[in-house]
Amino acid sequence: MLSEPPGERPPGYPEWLERTLRTASGTTISVRPIRPDDAPRLVAFHGALSSHSVYMRFFSPHPTLTQREVERFTRVDYHTRLALIAEVDGELTAVARYDRWPETTEAEVAFVVADAWQHHGIAPVLLGLLAEAARRRGVETFTASTLLDNRDMLVVFSHSGFHPTTSLAGGGVVEVRFSIVPEGQAIEGAGQPC
Ligand SMILES: CC(C)(COP(=O)(O)OP(=O)(O)OC[C@H]1O[C@@H](n2cnc3c(N)ncnc32)[C@H](O)[C@@H]1OP(=O)(O)O)[C@@H](O)C(=O)NCCC(=O)NCCS
Repeated sequence: MLSEPPGERPPGYPEWLERTLRTASGTTISVRPIRPDDAPRLVAFHGALSSHSVYMRFFSPHPTLTQREVERFTRVDYHTRLALIAEVDGELTAVARYDRWPETTEAEVAFVVADAWQHHGIAPVLLGLLAEAARRRGVETFTASTLLDNRDMLVVFSHSGFHPTTSLAGGGVVEVRFSIVPEGQAIEGAGQPC
């Protein structure tokens, strides 16, 4: 899963989202928007996830991404659909994405961090940057579907500096939603520049 040489940047690729950031626990991560040529690395990343992490992300066993999923996850328009990847020493360690709900100012977010890199504060940094990007594109609200027993994801949202509300959706799923428009104060969790 070592980093490929920089690939060709697709049309609309937002270079300003390429950042080197330090998480709250002191891990230095390189963040950038996903590119189509990340497809093989995404397949390997997913294949190396524990069955628990896959279940938390997809709510079902899903050991292998379909070709269609790989295309959808790596080919984004960087406006209505945006994914960020985080690397540590060239290793793909996390993916965070939003997908805007059509004709709304809302977008659904999803996160997955490699098992060995969970609890290093990576998701909070990605959430902060994803929110910054989404705000610039007119998104005002993030939504997420999370399993009720996904404490880590729920804590990331509740400690984010945003103000999430939750509602039970049945089937052990919690619907989370929060405004990403700041209320006159800085949003936490955006990481520290290195
Ligand atoms: C859920 C997930 C994305 C969290 O990512 P992460 O990068 O590991 O997040 P964190 O490093 O913040 O880990 C959560 C921990 O940080 C703590 N935390 C997060 N933000 C915090 C803050 N601002 N202040 C204090 N603690 C914080 C949490 O309490 C938790 O504590 P612990 O490490 O002591 O147990 C990751 O565990 C994952 O990929 N899981 C599998 C897939 C999944 O569940 N996806 C979500 C579907 S939407």
